[in-house]
Amino acid sequence: RKKVTIQTIQNLYKKKEPITVLTASDFPSGHVADTAGMEIVLVGDSLAMVAMGMEDTNEVTMDEMLLHCRSVNRAVKSAFTIADLPMGSYETSPEKALSSAIRMVKEGGMKGIKLEGGAEMASTIRKISQAGIPVMAHIGLTPQRQHSLGGFRVQGKSAAGAVKLLRDALAVQEAGACMMIIEAVPPEIAEIVTRRLSVPTIGIGSGNGCSGQVLVQVDMLGNFPEGRFLPKFVKTYADVWGEARRGIEAYREEVKSRAFPSVEYTYPVSKEVLDKFEK
Ligand code: KIV
Ligand code: NA
Repeated sequence: RKKVTIQTIQNLYKKKEPITVLTASDFPSGHVADTAGMEIVLVGDSLAMVAMGMEDTNEVTMDEMLLHCRSVNRAVKSAFTIADLPMGSYETSPEKALSSAIRMVKEGGMKGIKLEGGAEMASTIRKISQAGIPVMAHIGLTPQRQHSLGGFRVQGKSAAGAVKLLRDALAVQEAGACMMIIEAVPPEIAEIVTRRLSVPTIGIGSGNGCSGQVLVQVDMLGNFPEGRFLPKFVKTYADVWGEARRGIEAYREEVKSRAFPSVEYTYPVSKEVLDKFEK
């Protein structure tokens, strides 16, 4: 497969072919997403929960994100790679944001960065884009701002909310964002916003009128501990957790009963050596 570039993504957008995006947090998850043909692999800060067991995304640091980025980067040969700037690494000034974005490229091996926020982030998006680092914006439900949003709630649902969403979309596009995530917005609203733009929208929980879709890999593979809360918009395509658990339980049984390791899993020794050794 050829390397996916920003041009490849623009061509898909022009052809109206949906852009496929999936998160990854380490070498295996990056490898499988790339091999399965994802156009963009996103090192999302959701790895705080799904790879590090944290309560929410606000806990993960820049250095921790960079460690995960490097692992994903070693695995991804074709897909375009983008990483979330974690909370605290970009809000205080456009200069600070640019330094963080540069670290993602130089230390994390990423091609682009993602950051949360709309019109209020325009100068930051402009600063990073003008330095030659592609910026994916993230509007609608922005999990890093969960406490000021009053939790994980659908956005753009009221008329005023829909107008704000459109304003944010136009502002981040104008600032130079090469694409944007639209999270948890009613499908009709996300579709109208998408039609008003000239850069791709990547939906999550926002219907199929967006220019592409993204899901968290652990969630869509069903590779999460029993009891993890899944939003309504997650479709589970596999039962990786169940399969892993079945395998580990079977292993446990076979070790306890000494069924494993049977002879085919061992190395032979000659009778001659054995006789000598036993004497
Ligand atoms: O952190 C993440 O995984 C994300 C995507 C779900 C958009 O931001
Ligand atoms: Na995120």
